[in-house]
Amino acid sequence: MSHTELNTAAEKKFLLEVGCGVGNFIFPLLEAGGDKSVFIYACDFSKRAVQFVKDHPSYDSSSCKVFQADITNDISEFVPMDCINVATMIFVLSAIHPDKMVQALINVFKVLKPGGFLLFRDYGLYDHAMLRFEPGHKLSENFYVRQDGTRAFYFSIEKLQEIAESAGFKVVEIHYVKRETVNRKESICVPRIFVQAKFSKPLSPPEIHLPERPVIQEKDQANSACLEAKRCNGNANDRIDS
Ligand SMILES: C[S@@+](CC[C@H](N)C(=O)[O-])C[C@H]1O[C@@H](n2cnc3c(N)ncnc32)[C@H](O)[C@@H]1O
Repeated sequence: MSHTELNTAAEKKFLLEVGCGVGNFIFPLLEAGGDKSVFIYACDFSKRAVQFVKDHPSYDSSSCKVFQADITNDISEFVPMDCINVATMIFVLSAIHPDKMVQALINVFKVLKPGGFLLFRDYGLYDHAMLRFEPGHKLSENFYVRQDGTRAFYFSIEKLQEIAESAGFKVVEIHYVKRETVNRKESICVPRIFVQAKFSKPLSPPEIHLPERPVIQEKDQANSACLEAKRCNGNANDRIDS
């Protein structure tokens, strides 16, 4: 955090977008019109996505800082601990190996202010895309690999709640969202199931339950996240309409 950011930290609100991709969430906020009391941090695993955001005409370093990071690692070198009012994770956790999901949420938890919120949306159990996987694409329970090598986890409410609570969060709201999206290539309307949640960081210190040592190899995780960035950044319009 720079001096200027720190000096005005008392009045400012801080937002963190984890897995920002090409900035579909942050640019509408920045373009909506200069609420200078909000400072946006955004990170993504993909260097390409981060560079895309930095090069965007609406990117303004006085109200936004984007950085490359893997959220399964500590991000406190980029974002001070206990500083963020609201964090968002939109279709990001599903790309992370299940063994690392709790750690990813712990890393978000650490930078949130006590009383701060994490807003979450991701793929829900029995989503159309999950039911379309051919045999051989299943890696583990509710976890699949796509044709292009990217991976996707499909969350039940119960599983997501368990992961969030293991990271120390309190569940404020959690539910499935049903939508229809148009697949223009195949000219069909497909039913989608997402899971949406609001988690809070309690005001008093939490008990954190670390998962057992991950079995995934670091290189696999890196390759997969990289492919995921390429996939979703190439198909930004192919997902939701809500
Ligand atoms: C499906 S895209 C969603 C992008 C954006 N949130 C949106 O809704 O348009 C998933 C994004 O998560 C990023 N990602 C995947 N694994 C990550 C990780 N371990 N740390 C940070 N970002 C990650 C990918 O690079 C990709 O840009």
